[in-house]
Amino acid sequence: MLLLRNYNGVFMSKVGKLHVIYDDPLFFAGYSQLRRFRADWGYAMEHSAFINLVGSVQGRRVLDLGCGAGQLSLYLATAGAAKVISIDASERMLNVARTQRMHPCITYQLTSMSDYDYPSEDFDVVVSSLAFHYVRDYTNLMRNIARCLVPNGLLVFSTEHPIYSARNSTDGWVTGADGSRIGWALDHYAEEGPRDHHWFVDGVRRYHRTVATLVNGPIDAGFTVERVLEPAPSDEWLHDHPGDMDERRRPMFLLVRARRSSHSANTSRP
Ligand SMILES: C[S@@+](CC[C@H](N)C(=O)[O-])C[C@H]1O[C@@H](n2cnc3c(N)ncnc32)[C@H](O)[C@@H]1O
Repeated sequence: MLLLRNYNGVFMSKVGKLHVIYDDPLFFAGYSQLRRFRADWGYAMEHSAFINLVGSVQGRRVLDLGCGAGQLSLYLATAGAAKVISIDASERMLNVARTQRMHPCITYQLTSMSDYDYPSEDFDVVVSSLAFHYVRDYTNLMRNIARCLVPNGLLVFSTEHPIYSARNSTDGWVTGADGSRIGWALDHYAEEGPRDHHWFVDGVRRYHRTVATLVNGPIDAGFTVERVLEPAPSDEWLHDHPGDMDERRRPMFLLVRARRSSHSANTSRP
């Protein structure tokens, strides 16, 4: 099949269908075995920190960008959101969401974050869990999100931590002669842009950005950044998940809560 790479690492086939790596059968076969994928929202280590940043969504209109199999969308709908619009570029992921996580308040929509027609001031809350590192144009994404939020609306997102995304090999760990982990290999931190690694298949593309870029993106689009988190496993978590001990040695996720200011100067269409 002829695949044409468009902006943002999403592919368009010659029959006009979106293709992301999550639609690749081999990739999906691997990804769909992850507990994170199979369980409902709350299973993964950073999920409780994410939900604490969001706070109450009672009666709120929510946009979930890169909703995947719908775990977060369903959690928010069950927590009382008035409506949840959940978009994702992967047909396979949305098929799972539509069969396993339907709710009267949720609308699942197949579109990429770059192509979505962001309505003006239509949402109280925008959330995104671990999807922004697949998007090439972060500046434009932030502008679009700012535009679709009401004044004082909330953006909460998680993304791969720059220390994790700037690893100098697929694995990142430097190992000794006996195979033990000596440390984490960070390289070319300041070089932002695509990083292709093996993850179930070769050439899985994510976009590395520095901490400054990730935090200044919302600020430049008219947000006030209220909180930045780098979740690490707690003692309680490690008691139940002893295999996660090394997750304390380097951060894997960065979480941001940002509030659109009431008078935003940069929310017009670019
Ligand atoms: C790691 S999964 C996270 C799924 C879900 N948010 C979660 O936390 O379980 C990343 C998701 O982002 C989606 N995605 C990647 N690039 C995208 C884009 N440009 N537009 C919309 N969705 C995208 C993928 O299809 C995938 O479902």
